[in-house]
Amino acid sequence: MRPADLWRHSSFRLALGVTLAVLGALILVGAVGYTVLHRQLADRQDARLMEIFTTLLQSDAADQQDVIEAINARIRASPNQSSIFLLRDAAGRILAANVRDVPIKPGWSTLDAAVLGVQADYPYRVFAGDLNGNFLVVGLSNADLNDLSEIILTGFGWSALAVLVAAIAAGAWIAYRLQRRLGDVTARLQRVAAGDLATRLAVSGRGDDLDLISGEINQALSRLGALVEAMRQVSADIAHELRTPLNRLRIHIEQAARHAAVSAPVEDDLAAAIAQSEAIDQTFSALLRIAQIEAGAHREKFAPVDLAALLGDVADIYAEVAKDAGHRLRIEVAEPAWIRGDRELLTQSLANLIENAIRHCPAGTTILCRVRRQGGQVRASVSDTGPGIPADERDKVLRRLYRLEKSRTTQGTGLGLALVKAVADLHGAELILSDAAPGLRVDLVFRQIVGSPRP
Ligand SMILES: Nc1ncnc2c1ncn2[C@@H]1O[C@H](COP(=O)(O)OP(=O)(O)OP(=O)(O)O)[C@@H](O)[C@H]1O
Ligand SMILES: [Mg+2]
Repeated sequence: MRPADLWRHSSFRLALGVTLAVLGALILVGAVGYTVLHRQLADRQDARLMEIFTTLLQSDAADQQDVIEAINARIRASPNQSSIFLLRDAAGRILAANVRDVPIKPGWSTLDAAVLGVQADYPYRVFAGDLNGNFLVVGLSNADLNDLSEIILTGFGWSALAVLVAAIAAGAWIAYRLQRRLGDVTARLQRVAAGDLATRLAVSGRGDDLDLISGEINQALSRLGALVEAMRQVSADIAHELRTPLNRLRIHIEQAARHAAVSAPVEDDLAAAIAQSEAIDQTFSALLRIAQIEAGAHREKFAPVDLAALLGDVADIYAEVAKDAGHRLRIEVAEPAWIRGDRELLTQSLANLIENAIRHCPAGTTILCRVRRQGGQVRASVSDTGPGIPADERDKVLRRLYRLEKSRTTQGTGLGLALVKAVADLHGAELILSDAAPGLRVDLVFRQIVGSPRP
């Protein structure tokens, strides 16, 4: 990663933002600390100054010479003029001094070294007042105070610089690490975009947010892969299964052509060809209908439906057909069971289940239609005492156009259960195929139940 690229990374910008905030806080703390410390040092200096002044004031007043001696002793003890003194008598004569005689007002003041005629870089803190009829000026150089302030300021300056450098380095390092992982994610997603759905994002195992997002994307990719595989399977199934009816159609047309060549009647051949093409058309219509249901096209037509009454009605319609085929059709619906759904699609699904039992079971079978309320669920079931479906085929018969080998000769296209499955999914219901020992039991379990609507 080039340094110029750093700015593009949000992690680096974030680190820099935090750095600036820390730096701001450091400057604030430094400024407050400096002011407090400076004030304390200045107060101490003033206290020392006042102490010198009072000590001289308390010396023997009667002997002015002693006072002058004491001042001169202090002047000698301060050859570099860190302390300054000036004693003037009432007539304005200098009695003792190590500075130029300049007019100084009584009380506290701060004076430049040049004003006092002293060779120094720093100003003086000065206190002046009456000393037993004379005028005494005592001052202390600000050199120590200013030196200390400088040391404090330099200390703060260096630590602020160190924090800044450390934060920028940390930010750049974090940005670099993150960029390496994001670069890997981008590269892998580009492979997915190019069609390689088997690609998965790397998960570091640290459980951080990037791992979390990668895990979610991986799951989505798995689902997408399964979906695409299912679609591929469906198209292959459809292509494979439609070859037989299309071959039959070709045979009828070829036969018509052969008959026409010898001037034999072709009406039967053409009628058979038309019937075959109608069957193909019906298969496509059914496939289209399932696709529409899967796309959720019917969801806006959902309304309260009493599944108990509905199954009762459908079973009534098939009672005669079942009887003609030599079956016994029993209906067990006790209380109303309201769910939210599409009446037309539910009717079609229940009809498909009853039709299957009639069509795929030998004469003498008992078909039982039941609707029961169980807790927060409504369970509609159609069971028979026929041959049933082997456990390893129960998933496959839900696929479009899939039929058991033994059913190849019976009427049908293998789309009935695929439609039931699509309708169940649309309603958020579970479709369960199980062994009725003997026979097949199909359950539709609905969770979207509703109270009975007001009449
Ligand atoms: N009650 C049943 N007993 C035994 N086998 C069944 C039963 N119901 C379905 N099957 C098997 O499952 C296959 C798929 O059923 P599905 O309803 O999807 O298609 P179909 O009945 O063959 O044709 P279609 O319903 O499209 O007219 C059937 O061909 C049959 O082999
Ligand atoms: Mg069927």
